[in-house]
Amino acid sequence: MDLIEAIRTRRSVRAFLDEPISTETLEQVLADAGRAPSAINMQPWEIHMVLGEERKRLSRRLLRSFKENALTCGPGTTKPVPEKFMIRARECADQMLPLIQKMGADFKAYVNEGSLDFYGAPAVALIFVDDCFPPDRMVDAGSFLGYLVLAASAHGLASCPIGLVRSYQDEIKDHLNVPETKNLAISVALGKPDLTAPINEFRSARAELREFVRWID
Ligand SMILES: Cc1cc2nc3c(=O)[nH]c(=O)nc-3n(C[C@H](O)[C@H](O)[C@H](O)COP(=O)(O)O)c2cc1C
Repeated sequence: MDLIEAIRTRRSVRAFLDEPISTETLEQVLADAGRAPSAINMQPWEIHMVLGEERKRLSRRLLRSFKENALTCGPGTTKPVPEKFMIRARECADQMLPLIQKMGADFKAYVNEGSLDFYGAPAVALIFVDDCFPPDRMVDAGSFLGYLVLAASAHGLASCPIGLVRSYQDEIKDHLNVPETKNLAISVALGKPDLTAPINEFRSARAELREFVRWID
């Protein structure tokens, strides 16, 4: 697949088929994602791949915790967020709402519990960065994330970044025996899309260049 085509057609999928993905394909995706740039090529990311029944077991644990703590998706800040950003988030939710309703589901439940269930994906990449690094190095994890979702597309896989798991990282580390010194940057659900699910018709909008680019010359 051409790179520009991959960039333009990639989207987050929120309903996956319960079909395993071959280790070979996942290895290719991860190796290509590993070509992402990082500060002085430290490649500070550490990836834990959780597959099949282990993924489902992890989700059961996260969903139990969700019932107790109800930590949900949101902008993740206590500072006021400028209105232009919140408008984009609201528009995104407004456009997803009818598709989720078409599936007979409640919006918040679908997105929050769905995220913790990795939308049924057979594979999940958990991207950690050691806490010896300053917060700046989270940028490198973001760089890996961008490459990962595009590499997944190029290898015929759908994906969805799942940030909600960061609020549950203590449980995740405990469950998967990951040292406390590792910070969970983000996770990515990977698999084949359920093309019959209305939510997968969703295509998110983008701001015009003039809204986010300032030219200085
Ligand atoms: C850092 C980050 C965290 C995200 N967390 C979640 C999440 O917890 N649940 C979810 O359904 N989507 C999540 N997403 C997906 C975004 O909602 C999605 O990328 C955005 O709406 C743009 O849509 P697109 O990926 O289809 O282009 C996350 C994306 C990023 C980059």
